[in-house]
Amino acid sequence: MGTIGRGARLSALLACAGWVTGIAGAQFEGYKVVRVSPASPRDVLAASAVSAGLWSERAGPGPFEVYVSPEGLEALAGTGVRFEVLVDDLQTLLDEERRANQAAKAARDSSFFDSYHNYADLIAYYQQLVTDFPALASIEVIGQSLEGRPMYAATITGPGDPSGRPMVYFNACQHAREWASPSTLAFIVDELLRNYGTDARVTEILDHVVLRAVPVVNPDGYEYTQVPANRLWRKNRRNNGDGTFGVDLNRNWDAFWGGDGSSGSTNSETYRGTAPFSEPETQVIRDDLLAHPSSVAHIDWHTYSQLILYPWGYADVPPPEPDRTFFDLFSRELADTIFAVHGVSYTPQQSIDLYAAAGTATDWAYSVGRKSWTIELRPSSGGAGGFILPPEQIRPTGQENYAAALRFLEVFIDGLYLGMPGGAPTEIINGAGRDFTVRIIGSSATLEPGSAALVFRTDFGADDVTVPLAPLTDISFSASLPALSPGRTINYHVEARTTAGNTVRFPSAGEISAAYLEESVITLDTCEINAGWTIGAPGDTATTGQWGLMDPEPTAAQPGDDHTPAPGVNCWVTDGRAGSQVGSFDVDGGATTLTSPRLDASLAGAWYSGGPTIAYHRWYSNDAGAAPNSDSMPVLLSNDDGATWTQIEDVSENTGAWTARAVVISDLMTPTDAMRLRFVARDLGSGSIVEAGVDDVSLAIRGVHYHPADLNHDTFTDATDFFAYLDLFVADDPGADLDADGDRDASDFFLYLDLFVTP
Ligand code: ARG
Ligand code: ZN
Repeated sequence: MGTIGRGARLSALLACAGWVTGIAGAQFEGYKVVRVSPASPRDVLAASAVSAGLWSERAGPGPFEVYVSPEGLEALAGTGVRFEVLVDDLQTLLDEERRANQAAKAARDSSFFDSYHNYADLIAYYQQLVTDFPALASIEVIGQSLEGRPMYAATITGPGDPSGRPMVYFNACQHAREWASPSTLAFIVDELLRNYGTDARVTEILDHVVLRAVPVVNPDGYEYTQVPANRLWRKNRRNNGDGTFGVDLNRNWDAFWGGDGSSGSTNSETYRGTAPFSEPETQVIRDDLLAHPSSVAHIDWHTYSQLILYPWGYADVPPPEPDRTFFDLFSRELADTIFAVHGVSYTPQQSIDLYAAAGTATDWAYSVGRKSWTIELRPSSGGAGGFILPPEQIRPTGQENYAAALRFLEVFIDGLYLGMPGGAPTEIINGAGRDFTVRIIGSSATLEPGSAALVFRTDFGADDVTVPLAPLTDISFSASLPALSPGRTINYHVEARTTAGNTVRFPSAGEISAAYLEESVITLDTCEINAGWTIGAPGDTATTGQWGLMDPEPTAAQPGDDHTPAPGVNCWVTDGRAGSQVGSFDVDGGATTLTSPRLDASLAGAWYSGGPTIAYHRWYSNDAGAAPNSDSMPVLLSNDDGATWTQIEDVSENTGAWTARAVVISDLMTPTDAMRLRFVARDLGSGSIVEAGVDDVSLAIRGVHYHPADLNHDTFTDATDFFAYLDLFVADDPGADLDADGDRDASDFFLYLDLFVTP
């Protein structure tokens, strides 16, 4: 399916729509979760009027999710608004969560992160951690909730005087029903404490930072969601005096309070309260954070949608530079860090691009000088369970966010963010050398001018060489890796100093290793004309969006240009027409398969190392539409003319750009003269927008043709080569400077000897 109007921003409307909340007794027998696809603002209002509550955290643009009673469903059908049922029986979903949770707790070997816990048990767990790790952790009461429950903050840091250490402030559970938020924060705290002293990275981190963690901001609401009250409660438990309850704490902060995406209606899920900080819970966190001027950064943990959101969220206003670039690059790095753990995609974006919300914690924390994020945890969508995340996902969700938290703490210890937007070079092909861009931005400190440097060491144990980075702008620097002959490798990192004299390196530990290789292209198919590809395979059921060769028209989900440099225009694309809506010509109804002509990889001759490589550029998008990220595109390779296939990759990430991929065939199978490459674009989750493209497919030999000491390339490393090096050396030829330190000296000579005797 794919019928989503482009760009409609329904956020303000949704927030003002006045969702009916507070179903007494909260039994959800016969209730359904539905996704409504409004065609007009009138549809939004009509759907909101008959629904029992908003199910999405993500309310627009485009379709959104609500839950409805049996009568509400009938009424909804009567409105003519388009909708589809996502969860047929809400009560069963909730009962199942409860059953799984109780079973996990009752299991003989049950441990804390096997299940969700009520407020008392959660706090008792933190208190136990303090007992178990008295040198590292403490917990204190920082105030009281509206109903008089104590609110806590835990403080985690290594032994010794913490006064010079920056503080990072995390809070969970502003929204009561988002149970994965407090479980994830507890998991992070737990893991840090258990790894201190054994894991060198964690020890280094905790010795240099103070983590302050508020386990639950909204204890009254959290208790209210413990069955049998109302599992789906979001707000606090303020009696609004008119028969309604609850203020949305995340609309109650004094940051553009009262603006878009917050409601003045007491019965709304996003009711902002009577005044900024009208609620004790937001007051308590405000006072605690401001009482710690050393706090430099903040994360407000929520579920769901898998998002990494940064300011601003109240309006379409970018943060000033360099913050904006920092938020952008660092959020992407956090997403990559999360993805590396379990392959789950979190999308980094500015909060406003989700929807407007005025009066949020993140905007407030940023307004008082703290770098601040909202992280929306698993699952990805309402259809995938929404607020009901199965208890067996507590640990994996915790693990991937623990990885992000470690990197987060490091960056705010350092005070400088170092990153490489294009990635760090790891292969240098046929190149004289390689220039790349480094970004250095103050996260909470200032860069010492002139201190940024590339530090590298070539293979065979030569000394470190330090080369200052050339500034391109205030935050952008150019680094150059030297020219080395194929077969050589180089290890490097970049580093910089703060004005306070603290040296920061990227990567934070270890070195990046880059291999110098050569490549010779056997065939390059620029996909301008059809060189013998076939469309379709048994099992294909796609009804629209079949592969075709054309000049693609841009949409929100499709490239507007092929990959081949001009005059190239065409590529393979899953119907490259734009149509009236983003989903007009995307893949619907199943798979569509694209298969390459036969490629002859048998000609690969003898190389010192490496072998035939298949490379392609692919474009893939499945993050638009009503069921984002529910599809993938397998890429397969055959060496027997298509009789059998081996998967190269299953593409699920949305780069929104052409991405290059290369595989050394022998890593997967024996290279033959009957290779074929295949791309299967498919729409499995109905409602998702799937678009894919393929371009510039090549068969090449990549590796090292000659032994690095075989200077005359006669495939023998012998006396002739040795004397050839001596000639270079005596002539002071730059080619004799093997360690690339700028001097041709004795250490180069010994390097050549090392190379010479290496088989
Ligand atoms: N789900 C959170 C909320 O509604 C996210 C808010 C993020 N901010 C934003 N402007 N979208 O409170
Ligand atoms: Zn939330």
